[in-house]
Amino acid sequence: MSHTKPTALIVGASRGLGLALAEEDLNRGWSIVGTVRGKTHTRLHDLKNKYEHALEIETVDIVKPDEVSALRDRLKGRTFDLLFVNAGVANNPDETIGNVTTEEFIRLMVTNTLSPMRVIEGLGDLVSDEGTIGVMSSGLGSVANNEDGGWEIYRGSKAALNTLMCSYAARHRNDQRSLIIIAPGWVRTDMGGPRASLSIEESIPRVVDTITGQAGKRGLRFLDYRGLTVPW
Ligand SMILES: NC(=O)c1ccc[n+]([C@@H]2O[C@H](COP(=O)([O-])OP(=O)(O)OC[C@H]3O[C@@H](n4cnc5c(N)ncnc54)[C@H](OP(=O)(O)O)[C@@H]3O)[C@@H](O)[C@H]2O)c1
Repeated sequence: MSHTKPTALIVGASRGLGLALAEEDLNRGWSIVGTVRGKTHTRLHDLKNKYEHALEIETVDIVKPDEVSALRDRLKGRTFDLLFVNAGVANNPDETIGNVTTEEFIRLMVTNTLSPMRVIEGLGDLVSDEGTIGVMSSGLGSVANNEDGGWEIYRGSKAALNTLMCSYAARHRNDQRSLIIIAPGWVRTDMGGPRASLSIEESIPRVVDTITGQAGKRGLRFLDYRGLTVPW
């Protein structure tokens, strides 16, 4: 991490965990570029009042490759200590591979698997040599821990994301960068719902501790919000 103010690019910061990540980093003195989709006012824009200079808002819809390339062009020449791709979607947890529509399967896989990796492929070189590249996965993405089933399609999309991160790590094995896959716990957001076990405040500061704790450690790790290793 650089000695000046650390900088992060957080993709998918309009609400929920991504917004909280941005706010936590800002509280800790980071400079943040946070992304939203489209032109609608979001809660990230509200944060701009408090962090006028430290927060920049960019736009990208990660499922649109032209928007990812345009973001890459706009950020050309910048260097980040952290690139973190948080954006993701869920589907009906009761859907199984036996009854999901092809369209819905593709929506999950394109948003949660292909697109975060496209962002990393496209923007990863903006991260400093000693920096960190991370993605928001899920404990449900652990193949080893899948004993109860449920959330089949979502699980599959996050397990595939984890596998593609492994392939990325293998292709970049000589890099100094730290690569991290995060399982934030089951958190009360629009996606997690009101019955989730953790508040955002119980998860995200520890997620940030976990991410910053990995700085300078090369290679790939799958860690939960407590910093514990999640079985693949
Ligand atoms: N909450 C949990 O319990 C939980 C548990 C494990 C993992 N996760 C993962 O954590 C991440 C954040 O979840 P959350 O609970 O904060 O969900 P959320 O409240 O539904 O927020 C999802 C975020 O992703 C963004 N996003 C979705 N599709 C996008 C796209 N195509 N391009 C750019 N941004 C996009 C959303 O932007 P818009 O506002 O524009 O829709 C929003 O900022 C996800 O990857 C999720 O799978 C969550």
